[in-house]
Amino acid sequence: MSADGKIALPTRRQTKISSDEDMKRVHELRNSVEVIIVGIGTVMADDPSLLVSPKHVSEIRNPVRLVLDSSGRTPDDAAVFDGDAETIVATSDECSRDFGGAEVIRCGKGRVDLTKLMSTLHDRGHSTVLVEGGGDVIWSFFREQLVDELRVFIGSIIIGGKGSPTPVDGEGFRSLVDVARLELVAHTALGDGLLLEYVVKR
Ligand SMILES: NC(=O)c1ccc[n+]([C@@H]2O[C@H](COP(=O)([O-])OP(=O)(O)OC[C@H]3O[C@@H](n4cnc5c(N)ncnc54)[C@H](OP(=O)(O)O)[C@@H]3O)[C@@H](O)[C@H]2O)c1
Repeated sequence: MSADGKIALPTRRQTKISSDEDMKRVHELRNSVEVIIVGIGTVMADDPSLLVSPKHVSEIRNPVRLVLDSSGRTPDDAAVFDGDAETIVATSDECSRDFGGAEVIRCGKGRVDLTKLMSTLHDRGHSTVLVEGGGDVIWSFFREQLVDELRVFIGSIIIGGKGSPTPVDGEGFRSLVDVARLELVAHTALGDGLLLEYVVKR
């Protein structure tokens, strides 16, 4: 996020926030997990490939890419369907769309049920999941108490804008009793920004 806590421009388009050192960290982190999750909002705004770049990592083992897309809106030409790594689209039970080369997990009434989805991934032997955003999806993971660790890189730019996306959007916790509490376990300067690493207190 930017120094003012935004993760994209007011137009919701992505912009460069990471330093070069942080980009390397992100690609190494991607390469170390089994599944990378993004919401359909991020696919629509940024069309990310979610692949690990050879520029940053030498021994690439691309994780499974998973899009949360309750009603099956992911465009046929989305970068996650490039065939360069396995892709899963998680939809609601009601969605009947299929997605070419991608597998579908139908999971949840009306919207993707994250607790059920995590249990399905666990049953398939996946135990490390990286949620790359955006803000609505990260909020849902916090609301469902499914987050173990949070990593925030703060880049040295200001974006501004009341409506610019933030790391955790959604409706937010309504009382101090409910807020997610974190323990700061590391802080590291990475280029011209700062990486904060937290574990979530239970
Ligand atoms: N700086 C960064 O690191 C970074 C990273 C990622 C994204 N971004 C930015 O974040 C913005 C996109 O974020 P966003 O909040 O609009 O979209 P998002 O969080 O990527 O996706 C939200 C959508 O996911 C779907 N979804 C399915 N199941 C869900 C569930 N259980 N909980 C929550 N959502 C669920 C919903 O659509 P359906 O109901 O249709 O399924 C929901 O509208 C873009 O501006 C992008 O550039 C920034």
